[in-house]
Amino acid sequence: MKKKFSLLLVAVLMFSVVLTACGGNGADVGNDNNGEDTSTLQKIEDSGKIVLGTSADYPPFEFHAMIDGKDEIVGFDIEIAKYIAEELGVELVIQDMDFDKLLGGLSTGMLDIVIAGMNPDPERDANFTDIYYEANLSVLVPKARASEFTKVEDLDGKSIGAQIGTVQEEIARETIKDSDVKALATNSDIVMNLKTNKIDSALMETPVATSYAAVNDDLMVIEDFVIDSGTGGVSIAVKTGDDELTEKLNEILEDIKSQGLIEQWFIEANELVNNSI
Ligand code: ARG
Repeated sequence: MKKKFSLLLVAVLMFSVVLTACGGNGADVGNDNNGEDTSTLQKIEDSGKIVLGTSADYPPFEFHAMIDGKDEIVGFDIEIAKYIAEELGVELVIQDMDFDKLLGGLSTGMLDIVIAGMNPDPERDANFTDIYYEANLSVLVPKARASEFTKVEDLDGKSIGAQIGTVQEEIARETIKDSDVKALATNSDIVMNLKTNKIDSALMETPVATSYAAVNDDLMVIEDFVIDSGTGGVSIAVKTGDDELTEKLNEILEDIKSQGLIEQWFIEANELVNNSI
């Protein structure tokens, strides 16, 4: 009896040695071996969830809205994320954060994908998919001061709000000469500052400026005052070098585009802007 027991013990010990050795060899794709990059797609499949990073201050792309009495993050970027999660057969987890923290979240592996109306700026440390939407930039001002702003030069010497870390911040600094750029963490902060006359104007992507004007009677978009964003559109960001996930997302985007879903979700998101909070 005793002998049997010790034989069993030896067997168990040997088995665990074999197990440890296997683990140490790290044959799994999902493991971070020898400093090599983890496959995010594998990680998503293994965990059964995809973590989306976004900055939900950007109607109609992504924003908070009251849906059936509940605060929810909605918008056409979110519909894209939902579709991707469904295609991959995983749960969608949304992490809402300041725009300038998103790419850091990708590189540390905290986020799997970023969909945040982000332009594939080559200076950004990320892999980008194909473009899924194109927009220009517009200027938002207090309605009461509309007559002060009729041409781009009218912005000279005025303060202009832009979100930190965005293309708009760069364009405001570089192309709108002599403007006093006030870089703020969120577009909600910018709107608040505009409404309380702490800043004179704000530079945003046209659909975003239009959305804020639609729900704030005291604000308006200056018409015929469109500035080219110079970036060709927005796309999805993933960790630098993750070509596998980039390709997979491009396939899914192709599928989305071919069904005309972006246009449909854009219209639906605009309808929800009235419920935005
Ligand atoms: N398109 C701009 C950029 O990529 C701004 C995006 C801001 N997005 C947001 N969700 N707040 O820099």
